[in-house]
Amino acid sequence: MGKTYKIAVMGGDGTGPEVAAEGVKVLKAAADKFNFSLELTDFDYGGERYIRTGEVLPDNAVEELTKHDAIFLGAIGHPDVKPGILEKGILLNLRFALDQYINLRPVILYPNVDTPIKNKGPEDIDFVVVRENTEGLYVGAGGVLKKGTPDEVAVQESINTRKGVERCIRFAFEYARKRNKRKQVTLCGKTNVLTFAFDLWERAFYEVAKEYPDIKTDYAHVDATCMWMVKNPEWFDVIVTDNMFGDIITDLGAMIQGGMGIAAGGNINPEGVSMFEPIGGSAPKYTGKNIINPLAAIGAAQMMLDHLGESEAALAIENAIRWVVAEKLDSLSAGKMGFGTREVGDMIAAAV
Ligand code: IPM
Ligand code: MN
Repeated sequence: MGKTYKIAVMGGDGTGPEVAAEGVKVLKAAADKFNFSLELTDFDYGGERYIRTGEVLPDNAVEELTKHDAIFLGAIGHPDVKPGILEKGILLNLRFALDQYINLRPVILYPNVDTPIKNKGPEDIDFVVVRENTEGLYVGAGGVLKKGTPDEVAVQESINTRKGVERCIRFAFEYARKRNKRKQVTLCGKTNVLTFAFDLWERAFYEVAKEYPDIKTDYAHVDATCMWMVKNPEWFDVIVTDNMFGDIITDLGAMIQGGMGIAAGGNINPEGVSMFEPIGGSAPKYTGKNIINPLAAIGAAQMMLDHLGESEAALAIENAIRWVVAEKLDSLSAGKMGFGTREVGDMIAAAV
Protein backbone atom coordinates (compact mmCIF):
# COMPACT_ATOMS: atom_id res chain seq x y z
CA MET A 1 0.00 0.00 0.00
CA GLY A 2 1.19 3.47 -0.85
CA LYS A 3 1.10 6.60 1.22
CA THR A 4 -1.81 7.96 3.22
CA TYR A 5 -2.72 11.61 2.83
CA LYS A 6 -4.69 13.54 5.40
CA ILE A 7 -6.96 15.94 3.54
CA ALA A 8 -9.08 18.66 5.15
CA VAL A 9 -12.24 19.09 3.08
CA MET A 10 -13.95 22.47 3.37
CA GLY A 11 -17.07 22.34 1.20
CA GLY A 12 -18.01 25.85 2.26
CA ASP A 13 -21.03 27.71 0.92
CA GLY A 14 -23.57 27.56 -1.89
CA THR A 15 -22.57 25.06 -4.56
CA GLY A 16 -19.19 24.57 -2.84
CA PRO A 17 -20.13 21.31 -1.08
CA GLU A 18 -21.64 19.88 -4.31
CA VAL A 19 -18.58 20.49 -6.42
CA ALA A 20 -16.23 19.45 -3.61
CA ALA A 21 -18.12 16.13 -3.38
CA GLU A 22 -17.39 15.46 -7.06
CA GLY A 23 -13.74 16.34 -6.50
CA VAL A 24 -13.65 13.88 -3.60
CA LYS A 25 -15.34 11.22 -5.75
CA VAL A 26 -12.58 11.54 -8.33
CA LEU A 27 -9.87 11.63 -5.65
CA LYS A 28 -11.16 8.34 -4.27
CA ALA A 29 -11.17 6.76 -7.72
CA ALA A 30 -7.58 7.90 -8.21
CA ALA A 31 -6.56 6.57 -4.79
CA ASP A 32 -7.99 3.12 -5.63
CA LYS A 33 -6.34 3.02 -8.98
CA PHE A 34 -2.93 4.36 -7.98
CA ASN A 35 -2.58 2.66 -4.64
CA PHE A 36 -2.58 5.43 -2.09
CA SER A 37 -5.12 6.23 0.61
CA LEU A 38 -6.95 9.30 1.74
CA GLU A 39 -7.98 10.24 5.23
CA LEU A 40 -10.65 12.88 4.67
CA THR A 41 -11.88 15.20 7.41
CA ASP A 42 -14.76 17.59 6.84
CA PHE A 43 -14.63 21.13 8.17
CA ASP A 44 -17.84 23.17 8.26
CA TYR A 45 -16.22 26.59 7.94
CA GLY A 46 -18.39 28.96 5.91
CA GLY A 47 -21.46 31.16 5.95
CA GLU A 48 -23.88 28.75 7.66
CA ARG A 49 -21.53 28.21 10.54
CA TYR A 50 -20.90 31.94 10.84
CA ILE A 51 -24.63 32.69 10.98
CA ARG A 52 -25.11 29.96 13.60
CA THR A 53 -22.13 30.74 15.83
CA GLY A 54 -21.08 34.31 15.02
CA GLU A 55 -17.57 33.01 14.45
CA VAL A 56 -15.87 33.03 11.02
CA LEU A 57 -13.13 30.63 12.03
CA PRO A 58 -12.68 29.00 15.44
CA ASP A 59 -9.46 29.87 17.29
CA ASN A 60 -7.96 26.46 16.64
CA ALA A 61 -8.77 26.42 12.89
CA VAL A 62 -5.23 27.06 11.69
CA GLU A 63 -3.79 24.59 14.17
CA GLU A 64 -6.30 21.92 13.10
CA LEU A 65 -5.74 22.51 9.39
CA THR A 66 -1.96 22.34 9.71
CA LYS A 67 -2.32 18.74 10.88
CA HIS A 68 -3.27 17.88 7.30
CA ASP A 69 -1.25 17.33 4.15
CA ALA A 70 -3.52 19.61 2.10
CA ILE A 71 -6.86 21.41 2.13
CA PHE A 72 -9.54 20.90 -0.48
CA LEU A 73 -11.98 23.83 -0.66
CA GLY A 74 -15.35 24.16 -2.41
CA ALA A 75 -16.32 27.84 -2.22
CA ILE A 76 -16.71 30.63 0.30
CA GLY A 77 -19.46 33.31 0.10
CA HIS A 78 -23.02 33.40 1.48
CA PRO A 79 -25.86 35.67 0.28
CA ASP A 80 -26.96 36.42 3.87
CA VAL A 81 -23.52 37.51 5.03
CA LYS A 82 -22.19 40.97 4.22
CA PRO A 83 -19.62 40.72 1.39
CA GLY A 84 -16.06 40.68 2.67
CA ILE A 85 -16.62 39.03 6.06
CA LEU A 86 -16.23 35.43 4.92
CA GLU A 87 -13.83 36.18 2.08
CA LYS A 88 -11.46 38.03 4.39
CA GLY A 89 -12.17 36.01 7.51
CA ILE A 90 -11.77 32.59 5.93
CA LEU A 91 -10.17 32.60 2.49
CA LEU A 92 -7.67 35.45 2.85
CA ASN A 93 -7.07 34.66 6.51
CA LEU A 94 -6.05 31.09 5.67
CA ARG A 95 -3.90 32.12 2.72
CA PHE A 96 -2.01 34.45 5.04
CA ALA A 97 -1.93 32.33 8.18
CA LEU A 98 -0.71 29.27 6.27
CA ASP A 99 1.73 31.44 4.31
CA GLN A 100 0.40 30.14 0.99
CA TYR A 101 2.49 32.62 -0.89
CA ILE A 102 1.75 31.30 -4.37
CA ASN A 103 -1.59 31.29 -6.09
CA LEU A 104 -1.09 28.99 -9.06
CA ARG A 105 -3.75 29.36 -11.73
CA PRO A 106 -3.44 27.40 -14.97
CA VAL A 107 -5.24 28.80 -18.01
CA ILE A 108 -5.77 25.80 -20.28
CA LEU A 109 -8.36 25.49 -23.02
CA TYR A 110 -9.42 21.86 -23.34
CA PRO A 111 -10.55 20.52 -26.72
CA ASN A 112 -14.30 20.93 -27.28
CA VAL A 113 -14.56 23.79 -24.76
CA ASP A 114 -15.77 27.09 -26.21
CA THR A 115 -13.57 30.13 -25.85
CA PRO A 116 -14.90 33.60 -26.64
CA ILE A 117 -11.63 34.29 -28.47
CA LYS A 118 -12.18 33.93 -32.17
CA ASN A 119 -9.73 31.76 -34.11
CA LYS A 120 -7.91 30.47 -31.04
CA GLY A 121 -7.86 26.86 -29.94
CA PRO A 122 -6.31 24.55 -27.34
CA GLU A 123 -2.88 24.91 -28.96
CA ASP A 124 -3.00 28.68 -28.34
CA ILE A 125 -4.36 28.84 -24.80
CA ASP A 126 -2.05 26.97 -22.45
CA PHE A 127 -0.28 29.01 -19.79
CA VAL A 128 -0.09 29.46 -16.02
CA VAL A 129 -0.37 32.51 -13.83
CA VAL A 130 1.80 32.57 -10.71
CA ARG A 131 0.08 35.11 -8.52
CA GLU A 132 1.78 36.38 -5.36
CA ASN A 133 -0.73 35.50 -2.64
CA THR A 134 0.27 37.08 0.70
CA GLU A 135 1.30 40.67 0.00
CA GLY A 136 0.49 43.69 -2.17
CA LEU A 137 -2.82 45.49 -1.78
CA TYR A 138 -4.28 42.48 0.04
CA VAL A 139 -2.45 42.99 3.34
CA GLY A 140 -4.93 45.61 4.53
CA ALA A 141 -2.32 48.32 5.11
CA GLY A 142 -3.59 51.87 5.19
CA GLY A 143 -6.48 53.56 6.90
CA VAL A 144 -9.17 56.15 6.76
CA LEU A 145 -9.50 59.61 8.24
CA LYS A 146 -12.61 61.72 8.73
CA LYS A 147 -14.83 58.94 7.50
CA GLY A 148 -18.24 60.02 6.24
CA THR A 149 -17.28 63.69 6.00
CA PRO A 150 -16.50 65.68 2.85
CA ASP A 151 -12.84 65.61 3.96
CA GLU A 152 -12.64 61.83 4.08
CA VAL A 153 -9.24 60.32 3.22
CA ALA A 154 -8.76 56.67 2.33
CA VAL A 155 -5.31 55.14 1.87
CA GLN A 156 -4.72 51.55 0.79
CA GLU A 157 -1.09 50.62 0.47
CA SER A 158 0.57 47.87 -1.52
CA ILE A 159 3.22 46.11 0.55
CA ASN A 160 5.96 44.34 -1.41
CA THR A 161 8.86 42.72 0.40
CA ARG A 162 12.05 41.62 -1.25
CA LYS A 163 11.66 38.20 0.33
CA GLY A 164 8.03 37.84 -0.74
CA VAL A 165 8.62 39.01 -4.27
CA GLU A 166 11.76 36.94 -4.74
CA ARG A 167 10.29 33.65 -3.54
CA CYS A 168 7.33 34.13 -5.85
CA ILE A 169 9.53 34.90 -8.84
CA ARG A 170 11.78 31.94 -8.07
CA PHE A 171 8.73 29.65 -7.95
CA ALA A 172 7.71 30.93 -11.39
CA PHE A 173 11.13 30.15 -12.90
CA GLU A 174 11.19 26.70 -11.31
CA TYR A 175 7.70 26.10 -12.63
CA ALA A 176 8.61 27.13 -16.17
CA ARG A 177 11.51 24.69 -16.04
CA LYS A 178 9.33 21.88 -14.70
CA ARG A 179 6.55 22.63 -17.21
CA ASN A 180 9.12 22.37 -19.95
CA LYS A 181 7.02 24.02 -22.66
CA ARG A 182 8.02 27.40 -24.03
CA LYS A 183 10.37 27.88 -21.05
CA GLN A 184 9.50 31.51 -20.66
CA VAL A 185 8.50 33.67 -17.71
CA THR A 186 6.67 36.95 -18.27
CA LEU A 187 6.69 39.52 -15.49
CA CYS A 188 3.35 41.32 -15.51
CA GLY A 189 3.64 44.69 -13.79
CA LYS A 190 3.22 48.41 -14.18
CA THR A 191 6.77 49.75 -14.09
CA ASN A 192 5.76 52.96 -15.85
CA VAL A 193 3.50 54.13 -13.00
CA LEU A 194 4.02 52.00 -9.88
CA THR A 195 7.67 52.98 -9.81
CA PHE A 196 8.36 51.82 -6.24
CA ALA A 197 6.66 48.44 -6.12
CA PHE A 198 7.47 47.27 -9.62
CA ASP A 199 10.98 48.59 -9.49
CA LEU A 200 11.52 46.07 -6.71
CA TRP A 201 9.75 43.37 -8.73
CA GLU A 202 11.75 44.16 -11.86
CA ARG A 203 15.15 44.09 -10.15
CA ALA A 204 14.31 40.86 -8.31
CA PHE A 205 13.01 39.35 -11.57
CA TYR A 206 16.18 39.95 -13.59
CA GLU A 207 18.44 38.93 -10.71
CA VAL A 208 16.63 35.63 -10.21
CA ALA A 209 16.56 35.13 -14.00
CA LYS A 210 20.37 34.90 -14.01
CA GLU A 211 20.06 31.60 -12.11
CA TYR A 212 17.89 30.24 -14.94
CA PRO A 213 19.81 30.70 -18.20
CA ASP A 214 17.57 28.08 -19.84
CA ILE A 215 14.44 30.18 -19.27
CA LYS A 216 13.56 33.19 -21.44
CA THR A 217 12.40 36.39 -19.76
CA ASP A 218 9.71 38.75 -20.92
CA TYR A 219 7.93 41.76 -19.46
CA ALA A 220 4.44 43.21 -20.06
CA HIS A 221 2.52 45.94 -18.28
CA VAL A 222 -0.70 44.65 -16.76
CA ASP A 223 -2.95 46.53 -19.19
CA ALA A 224 -0.99 45.18 -22.13
CA THR A 225 -1.07 41.70 -20.58
CA CYS A 226 -4.89 41.85 -20.73
CA MET A 227 -4.67 42.87 -24.36
CA TRP A 228 -2.24 40.06 -25.30
CA MET A 229 -4.24 37.46 -23.37
CA VAL A 230 -7.05 38.15 -25.80
CA LYS A 231 -5.09 38.92 -28.94
CA ASN A 232 -2.14 36.50 -28.70
CA PRO A 233 -2.59 34.15 -25.74
CA GLU A 234 -0.12 31.73 -27.35
CA TRP A 235 2.72 34.10 -26.40
CA PHE A 236 2.44 33.17 -22.74
CA ASP A 237 3.92 30.26 -20.84
CA VAL A 238 4.31 31.34 -17.21
CA ILE A 239 3.17 34.79 -16.06
CA VAL A 240 4.33 36.03 -12.66
CA THR A 241 2.62 38.99 -11.03
CA ASP A 242 1.50 40.62 -7.79
CA ASN A 243 -1.60 39.78 -5.80
CA MET A 244 -4.01 42.39 -7.21
CA PHE A 245 -2.98 42.10 -10.85
CA GLY A 246 -3.01 38.32 -10.51
CA ASP A 247 -6.57 38.44 -9.17
CA ILE A 248 -7.72 40.49 -12.14
CA ILE A 249 -5.92 38.73 -14.97
CA THR A 250 -6.94 35.27 -13.74
CA ASP A 251 -10.63 36.14 -14.10
CA LEU A 252 -9.85 37.09 -17.67
CA GLY A 253 -7.87 33.85 -17.92
CA ALA A 254 -10.85 31.84 -16.64
CA MET A 255 -13.06 33.36 -19.33
CA ILE A 256 -10.73 32.55 -22.21
CA GLN A 257 -10.41 28.94 -21.00
CA GLY A 258 -14.17 28.43 -21.03
CA GLY A 259 -15.46 30.06 -17.85
CA MET A 260 -15.41 29.88 -14.08
CA GLY A 261 -16.83 26.36 -14.20
CA ILE A 262 -13.52 25.01 -15.42
CA ALA A 263 -10.88 27.24 -13.76
CA ALA A 264 -8.96 25.67 -10.87
CA GLY A 265 -6.26 27.05 -8.64
CA GLY A 266 -3.91 26.20 -5.80
CA ASN A 267 -2.90 28.36 -2.85
CA ILE A 268 0.53 26.94 -2.32
CA ASN A 269 3.04 27.00 0.48
CA PRO A 270 5.81 24.78 -0.91
CA GLU A 271 7.09 24.19 2.62
CA GLY A 272 3.71 23.96 4.36
CA VAL A 273 0.01 23.18 3.92
CA SER A 274 -1.53 24.16 0.60
CA MET A 275 -5.18 24.71 -0.30
CA PHE A 276 -6.79 23.84 -3.64
CA GLU A 277 -9.99 25.40 -4.93
CA PRO A 278 -12.18 25.96 -7.96
CA ILE A 279 -11.77 29.70 -8.52
CA GLY A 280 -15.42 30.46 -9.29
CA GLY A 281 -17.61 31.51 -6.37
CA SER A 282 -20.37 29.80 -4.40
CA ALA A 283 -23.09 30.49 -7.05
CA PRO A 284 -25.94 30.54 -4.45
CA LYS A 285 -28.75 30.54 -6.98
CA TYR A 286 -27.66 27.19 -8.41
CA THR A 287 -27.29 25.51 -5.01
CA GLY A 288 -28.69 22.00 -4.73
CA LYS A 289 -29.86 21.82 -8.34
CA ASN A 290 -27.25 19.37 -9.63
CA ILE A 291 -26.46 21.76 -12.49
CA ILE A 292 -23.22 23.43 -11.41
CA ASN A 293 -20.12 22.44 -13.35
CA PRO A 294 -17.78 20.36 -11.14
CA LEU A 295 -14.82 20.43 -13.56
CA ALA A 296 -13.03 23.26 -11.76
CA ALA A 297 -13.23 21.37 -8.46
CA ILE A 298 -12.04 18.19 -10.15
CA GLY A 299 -9.20 20.19 -11.71
CA ALA A 300 -8.34 21.47 -8.23
CA ALA A 301 -8.25 17.87 -6.99
CA GLN A 302 -5.87 17.05 -9.82
CA MET A 303 -3.60 19.96 -8.86
CA MET A 304 -3.65 18.80 -5.24
CA LEU A 305 -2.48 15.28 -6.16
CA ASP A 306 0.24 16.71 -8.36
CA HIS A 307 1.37 18.89 -5.47
CA LEU A 308 1.37 15.92 -3.08
CA GLY A 309 3.67 14.05 -5.46
CA GLU A 310 1.06 11.69 -6.95
CA SER A 311 1.89 12.86 -10.45
CA GLU A 312 0.69 9.71 -12.22
CA ALA A 313 -2.72 9.96 -10.55
CA ALA A 314 -2.86 13.67 -11.35
CA LEU A 315 -2.13 12.97 -14.99
CA ALA A 316 -4.83 10.31 -15.07
CA ILE A 317 -7.35 12.85 -13.77
CA GLU A 318 -6.25 15.40 -16.34
CA ASN A 319 -6.62 12.85 -19.12
CA ALA A 320 -10.02 11.82 -17.78
CA ILE A 321 -11.17 15.46 -17.78
CA ARG A 322 -9.91 15.92 -21.33
CA TRP A 323 -11.56 12.74 -22.53
CA VAL A 324 -14.94 13.37 -20.87
CA VAL A 325 -15.01 16.97 -22.06
CA ALA A 326 -14.13 16.00 -25.61
CA GLU A 327 -16.17 12.82 -25.99
CA LYS A 328 -19.06 12.97 -23.56
CA LEU A 329 -20.18 16.49 -22.81
CA ASP A 330 -22.06 18.81 -25.12
CA SER A 331 -19.66 21.56 -26.10
CA LEU A 332 -19.02 23.40 -22.85
CA SER A 333 -20.56 26.72 -23.70
CA ALA A 334 -22.69 29.13 -21.69
CA GLY A 335 -22.33 26.84 -18.67
CA LYS A 336 -24.33 24.02 -20.27
CA MET A 337 -22.86 20.55 -20.04
CA GLY A 338 -25.76 18.35 -21.11
CA PHE A 339 -25.32 16.38 -17.85
CA GLY A 340 -25.78 17.02 -14.15
CA THR A 341 -23.05 17.80 -11.62
CA ARG A 342 -23.01 14.26 -10.20
CA GLU A 343 -23.13 12.60 -13.63
CA VAL A 344 -20.07 14.54 -14.77
CA GLY A 345 -18.28 13.51 -11.58
CA ASP A 346 -19.26 9.86 -12.18
CA MET A 347 -17.98 9.91 -15.75
CA ILE A 348 -14.63 11.37 -14.75
CA ALA A 349 -14.23 9.00 -11.81
CA ALA A 350 -15.00 6.06 -14.13
CA ALA A 351 -12.53 7.33 -16.73
CA VAL A 352 -9.79 7.54 -14.10
C1 IPM B 1 -10.01 34.97 -5.76
C2 IPM B 1 -11.13 35.76 -5.15
C3 IPM B 1 -10.66 36.32 -3.82
C4 IPM B 1 -9.46 37.21 -4.10
C5 IPM B 1 -11.74 37.06 -3.04
C6 IPM B 1 -12.98 36.21 -2.83
C7 IPM B 1 -11.24 37.58 -1.72
O1 IPM B 1 -11.55 36.76 -6.02
O2 IPM B 1 -9.64 33.93 -5.16
O3 IPM B 1 -9.51 35.35 -6.82
O4 IPM B 1 -9.63 38.40 -4.39
O5 IPM B 1 -8.35 36.71 -4.02
MN1 MN C 1 -10.54 36.74 -7.91
